[in-house]
Amino acid sequence: MQHLTAILTISDRGSKGERRDLSGPALRERLEKAGDFSVVAEKIVSDEPDEIKAALTKWCDSGDIALILTTGGTGFSPRDLAPEATMAVIERPAPGFAEVMRFESLKITPHAMISRAVAGIRGTTLIINFPGSPKAARECLEFILLALPHALEKLAGDPSDCSS
Ligand code: MTE
Repeated sequence: MQHLTAILTISDRGSKGERRDLSGPALRERLEKAGDFSVVAEKIVSDEPDEIKAALTKWCDSGDIALILTTGGTGFSPRDLAPEATMAVIERPAPGFAEVMRFESLKITPHAMISRAVAGIRGTTLIINFPGSPKAARECLEFILLALPHALEKLAGDPSDCSS
């Protein structure tokens, strides 16, 4: 099953064209290599929470997108508000993804604890925040990738029993 996926890069400088987005493409490349995902939408927005919320709700409420990955804006800078914007639009939290990302990332860098990334569900769409650097985004995706297809099948209504 191909899971339709959207990638949202959250960056003031990226949205003004002052910084090339490397993290969105890094996430897309890894997802496409995995084979279960089809990246059908990509966008760069500023760190403005209203812009983030608008992009997330539009994709979720379209009914087409199963998965949204955001990258950037999860840290401690005053404009790092991706988690707050995400929490404002989700209906059910899905804390396991961010728990695993921080736990595994701490084995690579103590700075992992600075990411305030969250994940949650709106309708039938799963939203997951990733940190902003391409390296961090790539590492974090690796930690959760194997659980994503099963999560998305369940979210889409798969009634079968979980065997493992
Ligand atoms: N997680 C992993 N796996 N690898 C990293 O290099 N960098 C951290 C952290 N998480 C990092 C990581 C750093 S330095 C920061 S500041 C936070 O993610 C938040 O990043 P963001 O503000 O770009 O979202």
